[in-house]
Amino acid sequence: MTSIFSLPNHSLLCSTVSTPFSEISFPAKSQRPSSSTVKFRSHKADEFVSSGQIGASDSTTRRRELLFIATLPCLLPLTQIMDSQGANAVEPVTEEYLLIKEEISKVLSKGKAAGVLRLVFHDAGTFEMDDSTGGMNGSIVNELERPENAGLKKPIKVIRFIFLSSVIILQKAKTQIDAIRPVSWADIIAMAGAEAVAVCGGPKIQVSLGRLDLLEPDPEGKLPEESLNASGLKKCFQRKGFSTQELVALSGAHTIGSKGFGNPISFDNAYYKVLLEKPWMSSGGMSSMVGLPSDHALVEDDECLRWIKKYADNENMFFEDFKNAYVKLVNSGVKWKSL
Ligand code: HEM
Repeated sequence: MTSIFSLPNHSLLCSTVSTPFSEISFPAKSQRPSSSTVKFRSHKADEFVSSGQIGASDSTTRRRELLFIATLPCLLPLTQIMDSQGANAVEPVTEEYLLIKEEISKVLSKGKAAGVLRLVFHDAGTFEMDDSTGGMNGSIVNELERPENAGLKKPIKVIRFIFLSSVIILQKAKTQIDAIRPVSWADIIAMAGAEAVAVCGGPKIQVSLGRLDLLEPDPEGKLPEESLNASGLKKCFQRKGFSTQELVALSGAHTIGSKGFGNPISFDNAYYKVLLEKPWMSSGGMSSMVGLPSDHALVEDDECLRWIKKYADNENMFFEDFKNAYVKLVNSGVKWKSL
């Protein structure tokens, strides 16, 4: 399979790739230091720099390090903010975590949030429990030409543009982070999706770090098709380890974006409220365009309907369940770097 994101030479830490938009630099994947909590000053990025393997010069990297240290006191209150809001504190918030969060926040706007969140599902959603293939491994950046990632209904270029522009903005953040300490695509996409939810007013989600990227593409055709009925969707999600309740909670991601569930840049429970109204049943007009067939299918299933009603009534419950299901999604099939 050809891909504009293929890295012809994995032995290099940086390779330059031409895209229709710009020439951007792609640091190689999976070449991360072996500890996720190593102290900032003693990490292996220094070793890469001193052995001349990294693109940035010594002085540029040192300048970035100093800048990061100087801005740390401003970043630290974030830890307190997350703690006070009851984020699922899976791990202590590390300097690495704050660095990634900071760089993502520089490139992520509300307008980009939907594309970035969808990118998470297309990376992690390939996971299959049976044979342990797929999952959150960053392979999406090499799979953008597949029909399931290009969109079957809209002109291919439109959907590809959304994914491509999501990857390009994240690449910008990744380049900055890599210059200080290498980060995997899987980690950056997992964190960017969480930030996308937060920037649109959704729950604050803390994800663990330390995912390894996979250098090969995942098996094709593992994402659910939008034409599936509720039983097909349930089976598909079950194969990935998700319950019906988690299917309904994760589908709430469609509350942002272009499918017509309320404000496209506000992460709230409008998705469930609109589903209960079934606007697509009305003939003609824009309301008949609301939602995907897979969204419509959920409301026709009794088990799903029970969760839809709960989330429509109680936004906090939706936020809590979405947060937990999201953490599970971005941990699907992950190969963690050894500590
Ligand atoms: C339940 C099975 C799912 C199916 C069949 C599905 C399919 C799709 C399709 C076809 C679109 C494009 C709609 C369009 O613009 O025409 C879309 C959009 C989107 N999907 Fe899903 N999806 C599913 C679950 C998920 C999950 C679990 C997430 C994330 C947790 C997600 C996140 C999104 C987002 C944020 C968008 C809006 C993108 C935008 O407007 O730019 N989806 N989905």
